[in-house]
Formats: sequence, C-alpha cells, structure tokens
Amino acid sequence: MKEQIDEVNNERVMLSKLKHPSIISMKCAWADKNHYYMLFELALNGDLTGFLRRHGNLQHSMVQYFSSQIIATLGYLRTQNIVHRDLKPANIMINENFQIKLADFGTAKKILSSGDSNNSAGGISQMSYISGMSNVSNISNISGLSDNLPEDFEEMVGTESYISPEMLESRQYSYASDLWALGIIIFQCFTGYVPFRGRNQDETFEKIKKCEYEMPSEIPEVAQDLIQQLLKKNPEARIGAQNLIDIMNHKFFAGIEFKTICMQSPPVNFDLSKIQTVMVKYLPQNKDKVMK
Ligand SMILES: Nc1ncnc2c1ncn2[C@@H]1O[C@H](COP(=O)(O)OP(=O)(O)O)[C@@H](O)[C@H]1O
Ligand SMILES: [Mg+2]
Repeated sequence: MKEQIDEVNNERVMLSKLKHPSIISMKCAWADKNHYYMLFELALNGDLTGFLRRHGNLQHSMVQYFSSQIIATLGYLRTQNIVHRDLKPANIMINENFQIKLADFGTAKKILSSGDSNNSAGGISQMSYISGMSNVSNISNISGLSDNLPEDFEEMVGTESYISPEMLESRQYSYASDLWALGIIIFQCFTGYVPFRGRNQDETFEKIKKCEYEMPSEIPEVAQDLIQQLLKKNPEARIGAQNLIDIMNHKFFAGIEFKTICMQSPPVNFDLSKIQTVMVKYLPQNKDKVMK
C-alpha cells in the first residue's frame, strides 16, 4: 500500500513539474479520506496498445511519426534528468489529433548526477545509475538475479516484455533503458508482437538477458537496422545513449523535423469510425452519474 501511495505521489510531483506537448497534462490532484484523485487531459484515441489492436500493424511512415515523437519527448525528459522506466504502448496515449501523450510517471525517476552537473546531454558515462530508493514493482518472482546486489539497490520496476537486460542483471537504469524499450515498441508497431517472448516470465527474462530475438523480414530493412542498434545489451552502445542526436540522424527518420514533430498531423488518414468508437467509450453517457 505504501508503495502505491509513493508511486502516486511520485507521479503527481513529476507531472506537476513537466511541461511538454507530448507529455500528458495533469490538471489537478486532490485527496479525500478514502481516495486520491488525479485529473488528466483526456487522450481520445486511448493508448497505443489499443490503437495497434484497432488499426493493426503500422506502416513505416506511421511508426516513424509515433517514434520520433517519443524520441522528442525522451529528449525533453533528459533535460529534466528523468528516466521514464516504464515506456510501453499502454503508457503512450494518443490524442484526437493522433499526437502522443506520454503518461504513467509513477515509476519515473530523476537521475542523480555523478558529480558532474552537466549530465543533461545524456552521456551515460557522465551519470551514475540510479539506485537506493525503493519503488513499486509490477514484476513478480524474478529469478536469476545476481545474489550479491547491495541492499539499497533499486527495486524492480517496469513491465516484463519491455524491461532492459541491465535491470534484470544488476537492477540499473539509465536514459538508455528507455531506448531499449523504444526498440521494442518500434518492433511491436511493425509486427504486432514483442521481440522477447518466452513460455513463461523466466524464459522471457533469459532471452532478454541474452538479447536473443529473431528479426522478421516484414520489418523494413532501415527499421531493422534501427531496432538492432537500440536492442544492444550494453546500454552505452545503444544508439542515442550518448546523445539523442545520433538516433535522430538515423536514416529511419529521414525527413523528420524533430523540433515540430510533436505538433504535426499524422502522415496517413485513419478510419474515422474506429476513432469514434474509442471516443464514445470514454465520453460520459446519459445514464452516467455526473459528480457535482
Ligand atoms: N489521459 C488519458 N486519456 C485516455 N486514457 C488514459 C489516460 N490515462 C490513462 N488512460 C488509460 O488508462 C490506462 C492506465 O493508466 P496509467 O496512467 O498507465 O496507470 P497505471 O499505473 O494503472 O498503468 C492506460 O493504459 C490507458 O489505457
Ligand atoms: Mg500504465
């Protein structure tokens, strides 16, 4: 229970300080004796998981559009020294204009500088990994973790399919952990499934630790190259780990204007009837009681 309260408080504090077009805006937060409320802007297209379910696998231009918005948002988070730590489609909302709104900052964390205050550029070598504060876990029964971790090491956070090898092996996070998750999201947008899938959690984690996955030929070659450069076991070797400019310059993003991408319209037209269904799901119905 305390962990859940910590998580909610963390989200409230984080979001009250963050201001970016691709980060969900928290309008207000309050509590009464029994409940804690946070009021967010509504993303009418729901989250990316549902979006992929409704629209099927995405084509290159659409993956490029969503993922470049995610990168621009990660760039902003770096300037705030924040690692999201639970980047996944269920935490990526999509508004009525198909622009992404990153949500769920419950387990996001401020990176502590290793004495060098100039760590906002994101150089992994310039920063320490975060450790020492307990946090909520949504992963259970982790096996195969190193036994000789210091007691004050970070608790497990993240979600099974998106968690990075460094988290599994030594419970360490960095900006590059979000880049690992981005690699998985890009793979998933093209294929509809995640690259690391075992018959159970332990098997999935073994595959992640060995970085063992198959690259399907349905993913365009230029995207395959990007995914391979993101899904590197060594976090420092991931493209964009030292500087996000490196990933922005990858040929997968040719033609993307990163400065304005978060405000741009999508490159393809969508079936509006599908969008309507989502809107109806979220909007209050006549029979709903409206709080006064
Ligand atoms: N602002 C929003 N607009 C539309 N849907 C949302 C919004 N915030 C959350 N959701 C939906 O609720 C789900 C859970 O929200 P999230 O903030 O991720 O909390 P949790 O900590 O429970 O994962 C999301 O995956 C999404 O489907
Ligand atoms: Mg969530």
